[in-house]
Amino acid sequence: MSAAPLLEAEGLRRSYPARGRGRSGPRVVALAGVDLAVSAGGALGVVGGSGAGKSTLARLLLALERPDEGVVRFDGVAISGAPASVVRPLRRRFQPVFQDPLAALDPRMSAAEAVAEPLEALSIGDRDARRRRVAEVLEAVGLPVQLGRRRPAALSGGERQRVAIARALAPGPELLVLDEPVSSLDPPAALQLLDLLGGLRRGLGLALVLVSHELDVVRALCDRVAVLEAGLVVEEGPVEGVLGAPSHPATRRLVEAADLGGRR
Ligand SMILES: Nc1ncnc2c1ncn2[C@@H]1O[C@H](COP(=O)(O)OP(=O)(O)O)[C@@H](O)[C@H]1O
Ligand SMILES: [Mg+2]
Repeated sequence: MSAAPLLEAEGLRRSYPARGRGRSGPRVVALAGVDLAVSAGGALGVVGGSGAGKSTLARLLLALERPDEGVVRFDGVAISGAPASVVRPLRRRFQPVFQDPLAALDPRMSAAEAVAEPLEALSIGDRDARRRRVAEVLEAVGLPVQLGRRRPAALSGGERQRVAIARALAPGPELLVLDEPVSSLDPPAALQLLDLLGGLRRGLGLALVLVSHELDVVRALCDRVAVLEAGLVVEEGPVEGVLGAPSHPATRRLVEAADLGGRR
């Protein structure tokens, strides 16, 4: 009884012109042929060192960028390189959360306006319905509604990332794609945010793709993990198995580095 995956990537390849070398110069291969799948309600961690291709993969999965080759399917529909008329109706069902909420949030918008923005962009609800939805999702991320009047500069890092998560939740997605969602936070705020995300995942039955260089973040939230190295998935499976008994040298290096970090 294997249901079709909610999100599926097949053979994703993406390269960029090497920085400072011109468009016809050498290219950097960010993704060299990536396959992955996430089922409804499932949580897939993507781990790897710096430059492994994690953020590129996140952008491709969100159809913010198109692959050179390969395809991303959401609920069976190809969204990579598809026209806006195909992607737009699906967008409310998958939403991004990025590493740096200060960069992701418009400094001139109040928190409430930022949360309402995707609803407006996707033409979801009328003014009243949007206002109610904003209050609802602010509450869901543990923020008082009055805080919605503040601009990002008047919020703590943890509060800002909650606003970014509320904004992602506003359209009622089934899947969040999160790129290093706690890396900008100090350890106590990061722990609180992981708790929140775990609660949301269970409470809403959300599926997650969680990109992180921190294995503990993936251990806390995910049931499966894919290890990315040099643009390729070198190992994939249940978190316990892969991180508990790594079989690929790249995974072993990540686990050893995390152990060293934990002891400091
Ligand atoms: N927009 C871009 N232009 C040029 N090179 C890029 C761009 N985005 C990513 N890269 C390159 O692709 C590789 C993978 O980057 P990235 O996906 O950001 O990795 P990670 O998130 O795992 O650190 C790196 O070599 C990076 O320099
Ligand atoms: Mg990255």
